[in-house]
Amino acid sequence: MARCRCNGKLLCMCLLPCMMTGHLLIYVMVSIFVTISYTPPQIIVHYIAPGASTNSEALARHPMGPFWNLRLEESALWNRLQHVWDRQHNPILRGNTSATKVPKTKLSPLVKEACSSDPYKCLAPRLSDFDSLPEQMRAFVLSMHCREYPLLINQPGMCSGNRTFGLDNPMLLIAVKSQVGNFENRQAIRETWGRSGFVRGEINRRGGLVRTVFLLGRQDSSTGPYPDLNRLLELENQQFSDILQWDFRDTFFNLTLKDLLFWHWLQEHCPSAVFIFKGDDDVFVRTGALLDYLHKQWEEHNMWRASRNETEALMDLIVGDVISNAKPNREPTVKYYIPESFYKGVYPPYAGGGGVVYSGSLALRLREVSDRVQLFPIDDVYLGMCLHRLGLSPRHHPGFLTFDLPEAEKDKPCAYRSVLLVHKRSPKEMLALWRRLQTSRARC
Ligand SMILES: *[C@@H]1O[C@H](CO)[C@@H](O)[C@H](O)[C@H]1NC(C)=O
Ligand SMILES: *[C@@H]1O[C@H](CO)[C@@H](O)[C@H](O)[C@H]1NC(C)=O
Ligand SMILES: *[C@@H]1O[C@H](CO)[C@@H](O)[C@H](O)[C@H]1NC(C)=O
Ligand SMILES: *[C@@H]1O[C@H](CO)[C@@H](O)[C@H](O)[C@H]1NC(C)=O
Repeated sequence: MARCRCNGKLLCMCLLPCMMTGHLLIYVMVSIFVTISYTPPQIIVHYIAPGASTNSEALARHPMGPFWNLRLEESALWNRLQHVWDRQHNPILRGNTSATKVPKTKLSPLVKEACSSDPYKCLAPRLSDFDSLPEQMRAFVLSMHCREYPLLINQPGMCSGNRTFGLDNPMLLIAVKSQVGNFENRQAIRETWGRSGFVRGEINRRGGLVRTVFLLGRQDSSTGPYPDLNRLLELENQQFSDILQWDFRDTFFNLTLKDLLFWHWLQEHCPSAVFIFKGDDDVFVRTGALLDYLHKQWEEHNMWRASRNETEALMDLIVGDVISNAKPNREPTVKYYIPESFYKGVYPPYAGGGGVVYSGSLALRLREVSDRVQLFPIDDVYLGMCLHRLGLSPRHHPGFLTFDLPEAEKDKPCAYRSVLLVHKRSPKEMLALWRRLQTSRARC
């Protein structure tokens, strides 16, 4: 009897490890087989990277890895700088979850001083191939830590003017990126889709209060070979009081500053705007139809809020022509060129193509999160990065036409029925189209 039990024990001690090793082997073999036979899911490419020609080779490739790499990309400047901030702002690493609200990153007076006197003295980390980069990229790198520029022209009363009529809270604040010399574009916008005041919806007669501001940097003899139009700008502003101008060079790679500084302005001077449209001065918007759409979104949000009993829930709406899976353009001669030494990875989903609409509450959240996202030279992508940081993605709307209507449809007013925004239109075309849409509205 005792002998038998002893045998059983021996059997267990020998057999069990053998069986376990066998199972392990089978598991390893199956895993290897699954790995080998795995094909990555087919990703539909929706987008051709800006500036690239339309032949098929230029299609943006699908991402090969996550957008925000946990691994430090040693060689790319933006990734490196962002990595430092991510660590600084990481509540787990810092061990104080109540301190997630990070104080605003202020520049030391020394850096500010250096930036204003001689940009080359700025403490910007140098790139290995700095000297071979295009001028705009070099200018960006040297100034990318400067985020505060004084307002030269402000509109502090934009959203608080007319309390007697209860009209101080815009339903839609239109912020148009313009340049000093584009007087004609601004005037065409004022006379058409960007008219300030009460605007009726097209289907829904409710409409709402619309306010328009133009976002400008500096273009005068101090920033390049520009004629001095400052006196004319002053006159324009006296007349219309809708110009916001900041003291930085108005260049393509500085457009991100307009978003950033506009969010700051919004927080201070117009925090209760319900929706924001941000766009270029060469697009056409069907403002009435946009108001209808926004009313619908607002109602749906309120219904959702009531059904969930979350009276405090904010609206995180952002819609536009969404571009996914875009990679940086690596062609040095192109306006959108981003060298590999500056940024590695794919872009997060972003809304491109001249205009995007978001809720006012989201704008305030973007303003806050932007303190933790290093400036990026392409404004639409930067907005996408900030959204990504908030854990949000933009919503695609087919009414935002970046690539215009087919040529044959362009002159038919009824073709615009489902359009909210179209790029691009000259001031003359804006006026003509506006007039035609007013008269043809009933017929479509
Ligand atoms: C955590 O952060 C809060 C707010 O900044 C601060 O008041 C508190 O003292 C911090 N606690 C610790 C343990 O560091
Ligand atoms: C306030 O709004 C009303 C109606 O739109 C307008 O008639 C009036 O001039 C406005 N007042 C000011 C101070 O803007
Ligand atoms: C942006 O503006 C600042 C301030 O005027 C200037 O120093 C910098 O060179 C500009 N950046 C670009 C990319 O033009
Ligand atoms: C909704 O929430 C409020 C306060 O949190 C509570 O008093 C009320 O009973 C809730 N209503 C429903 C229908 O759950």
